[in-house]
Amino acid sequence: MTTDPRDHAIAALLSEERSYPPPEDFAAGANAQADLYERSFEELWETEGRERVTWFEPFTELYEWEPPYAKWYLGGRLNVCFNCVDRHVESGNGDKVAYHWEGEPVGEREAITFAGLQERVVRFANGLKKLGVGKGTPVGIYMGMIPELPVAMLACARLGAPHTVVFGGFSADALAGRLNDMGCEVLITQDEGWRKGANVPLKANADEALARCPGVRHAVVARRTGEGPALREGRDVAWDELAGGESADPATCPCEPMDSEDLLYLLYTSGTTAKPKGIAHTTAGYLVGTATTHHYIFDVKPDSIYWCAADIGWVTGHSYIVYGPLCNGTTSVLYEGTPDFPDRDRWWEIVERYRVDVLYTAPTAIRAHMKWGTEHAAKHDLSSLRLLGSVGEPINPEAWMWYRENIGGGRTPVVDTWWQTETGMILISPLPGVTTVKPGSATQPFPGIDAAVVDERGEEVPNGQGGYLVLRKPWPAMLRGLYKEHDRYVDTYWSRFPGLYFTGDGAKRDEDGDFWLMGRVDDVMNVSGHRISTIEVESALVDHPAVAEAAVCGRKDDLTGEAIVAFVTLKGSEEASVEMLDTLREHVAQKIGKIARPANIVFTPELPKTRSGKIMRRLLRDVSEHRTLGDTTTLADPSVVEEIRDRAEDEKAKAV
Ligand code: PRX
Repeated sequence: MTTDPRDHAIAALLSEERSYPPPEDFAAGANAQADLYERSFEELWETEGRERVTWFEPFTELYEWEPPYAKWYLGGRLNVCFNCVDRHVESGNGDKVAYHWEGEPVGEREAITFAGLQERVVRFANGLKKLGVGKGTPVGIYMGMIPELPVAMLACARLGAPHTVVFGGFSADALAGRLNDMGCEVLITQDEGWRKGANVPLKANADEALARCPGVRHAVVARRTGEGPALREGRDVAWDELAGGESADPATCPCEPMDSEDLLYLLYTSGTTAKPKGIAHTTAGYLVGTATTHHYIFDVKPDSIYWCAADIGWVTGHSYIVYGPLCNGTTSVLYEGTPDFPDRDRWWEIVERYRVDVLYTAPTAIRAHMKWGTEHAAKHDLSSLRLLGSVGEPINPEAWMWYRENIGGGRTPVVDTWWQTETGMILISPLPGVTTVKPGSATQPFPGIDAAVVDERGEEVPNGQGGYLVLRKPWPAMLRGLYKEHDRYVDTYWSRFPGLYFTGDGAKRDEDGDFWLMGRVDDVMNVSGHRISTIEVESALVDHPAVAEAAVCGRKDDLTGEAIVAFVTLKGSEEASVEMLDTLREHVAQKIGKIARPANIVFTPELPKTRSGKIMRRLLRDVSEHRTLGDTTTLADPSVVEEIRDRAEDEKAKAV
């Protein structure tokens, strides 16, 4: 790994010397105290399992580990919706706010209590039953950030129907692929969404997708803008019509007792091939893992106003907007729109108005706020904030410091939390009342988590040396495999280092043993905290009739972490033009979604390949980051790279 240019960045990071112990008053009242690290793995997860969730039937065995599959809380029966909703109402907290929903259009807001949430979930679940949804029926969800989204997820959980939520920014193609892969029978969507003042055509995309999903019998359409395509007779039903007349009495729709290991949901994420992977999360371990980490890492108190400013369409939203916080009975903010609509102080106005005390977001958002300037936050009283969190990609120390100083008033701890769709829950993070935090470091594995940095042979490297991040023991919310793809599961995570879970990330530990994440070491890019595979974008490009061949790589970007660069060889008669460039970018947006649109496309007559015909992405990355070229000795035709480099420079000159 020493030849990797990213090593230079990590060397700079490791010379970062600033550190901040927890403020004394914070430490004194923190949910997590130092003794949490002293609990054994078994003791910790046994206690959390018994105390953090309510069981219909208690578990009899903590876990079973038959690599590469783990099972947790064996023999137990429970329901996730009961834990997230009903039990809070039963214990007298029905009037507590579960979500302060904030629409993007200014002034649209709603406070939804736990009792109100229960009513909505029960009505909707009763409606779903009429459509034949029951235990084991796969359901797709394609929505924006409106209250109906968590309601739909919870209604599925109540009935024991596994869901897959598809991010509302994904295209019709991406949606269809996921619905078909899971075999969804019902799709829950909405007419349109709001994003940056514009309408997102969710139902129109869904219609296009459903034309290719014969297995989807019904679509339920929630009303948001009141616009969008008409309902399709026989297939579509309006949410209000389906649920409006149904009973809200929980006795009419009891929570289905689920086995600890029953499937809760699939969430598709990018891997190193074009086909997304269906990450499987089950019931008990996932719930215990997310709720436990949410409680200790975000230090939520009974009167906290917690805001995870992610989208529910990604795992961060599943675990830390829906399941973890609701299980803990926490009040959250749920915001529909972008941070700069209508103005760049929108977030800070929200923090001030609700007196948010815990804010969790991504480095890419922090860097956008940095770019916009400190004046927007300075207009608002942010003194309610006690704790800040970051997730999704490595956070550069400058952004970390900006966040702490300008948003946290120089007093709040910042927790940089490392995890993945696959891990389900945060695995490496400071405990805010215990850990001395350092800008850019995720610091220590959560208690009970066994993380290590290893070399090519799977042996642990000494502190200070780079290597691969692995996990040596199972954890409750770990994925239970890839949906219907056993071999790919083994191959992706378990084959590189037998017996160890390979995360796909590079890391180093410093002299204190603290972890510093170095980004992906595979063909996966991280754009604005979202995973996109190079091959996925390449296949979208070659799908266009004008394209002969394409190679895609990420280059460093100050705002989005990585930006997508595509090198494209057109078919003989096609002309490389600005129009072609726009056409191809749009084609990718249509195949995958706008987030996957290349920032640059370089047209080139040939791509650099090894003698065996493999595209050398490392070289392309060097070209796109304007670095001295790496090793070209295995290149079939070295002049190709020179030519591409000249073209890339031309592109850059044009862009300037
Ligand atoms: O490369 C790591 C990066 O995001 C990847 C996981 O992406 P995804 O499954 O989409 O989940 C994102 C939200 C949990 C990881 O393999 N990553 C995530 N958090 C961090 C991070 N890299 C560095 N520091 C983090 N805190």
